[in-house]
Amino acid sequence: MPSLAARMSRAKPSAIMAVADKAKRLKAEGRDIISFSIGVPNFLPGDHVYQAVRDALAKDSGQYGSNRGPDALLDAFIAHLEGSGLTGYGRKNIATGIGAKHVLYNLAEALLDPGDVIVFPTPYWTTYVDIADIVGAQTRLLPCPATQNYKLTPAQLDAAMPGAKVFLFNNPSNPTGMVYTKEEVAALADVLVRHPDVWIVCDDIYNRMVFDGIGYHNFVNARPELRDRTIIVDSLSKTYGMPGWRVGFVAGPETVAQAMVTLNSNHITNVPEIVNAAAIAALSGPQDVPTAKNAEFSAKRDTVMAALEAIPGVVCPRPQGAFYVFPDISCAFGKSYEGRLIANDVDFCNLLLEIKGVACVPGSAFGEPRALRISYTCPTPQLAPGMQRIQEFFAELR
Ligand SMILES: Cc1ncc(COP(=O)(O)O)c(C=O)c1O
Repeated sequence: MPSLAARMSRAKPSAIMAVADKAKRLKAEGRDIISFSIGVPNFLPGDHVYQAVRDALAKDSGQYGSNRGPDALLDAFIAHLEGSGLTGYGRKNIATGIGAKHVLYNLAEALLDPGDVIVFPTPYWTTYVDIADIVGAQTRLLPCPATQNYKLTPAQLDAAMPGAKVFLFNNPSNPTGMVYTKEEVAALADVLVRHPDVWIVCDDIYNRMVFDGIGYHNFVNARPELRDRTIIVDSLSKTYGMPGWRVGFVAGPETVAQAMVTLNSNHITNVPEIVNAAAIAALSGPQDVPTAKNAEFSAKRDTVMAALEAIPGVVCPRPQGAFYVFPDISCAFGKSYEGRLIANDVDFCNLLLEIKGVACVPGSAFGEPRALRISYTCPTPQLAPGMQRIQEFFAELR
């Protein structure tokens, strides 16, 4: 029997999907399950997106498309970047892909040789580690626990840069929901300027999901000289409620965008024509759905935080973006539920699901085993009861 390539021994299926699958199984068995597990936005885009798809179907070319993406989509994305305060990008700086995940994978192929070092903070989005493993890069993880608000400090970044090839930054963050302020971004940018041999990859796919008026800030505006080596990753998935449509983007130096195009030409060829039409409509049409959802998510964040703050021992930095809350629940470790010991985050999440029917993802999936992730995109009527079950669970631990 021939063997699989060695890299497949390093490839792992997503830990988040394992929790979601277990919750689905229990639901199918008739259990009353409230899921706070998957990071899906749980809303659909506006009608104009579906109309654009119908129009595109009516005049379908049936042909292969551009490896970079059609001009109309590139232009719509450039206008979207400008709306986020990122000006000065042309079509040659942009490439499209099948979601941000595909774009990040392609970036890893384009920027990292085996053994190269990629640096990023923990907690991290699970896939970063898996992609680095598949391409054979070394990960250098920078621990940012709840005690430092899950945020990277300039001193940590500075110490980690020597010998690094790529610095990967995610703002707003999955899993913590934390958003860096303008001053915090500027302080990290000042450090990055001192390390000119490092590529900077900004996974900013939640950049339109920011609350409390703190705004989205980035390294390029903080220190324009970083533009030549900064790559911004974006996606329709979360902002527009379109995770299944699979559209992602990069904006960056021409050489990097061209590398993405070359990989596409040997890989996916193009994002499908019908999907491109939906993407153009989402980016350039009315923005009322994303705007309304942002207000809704901000209010749901408040509900989750109020419930967590009422639990003695739980520590939770207040998130200001995305749709995640990441409480440190380590106060429960060593306690028991009806004689069943909770030694760690996985025990906690398993028991919480089994006993109270609430699905959360253990923090160890994100490199922070003292926490768990609550994704609060469930229907609003489920949110308060789900949080109440978590409160009850804590109260019943001995
Ligand atoms: C931080 C982060 N980056 C990238 C992605 C992937 O997004 P996409 O659906 O565009 O592949 C996700 C999805 O959960 C994410 O949370």
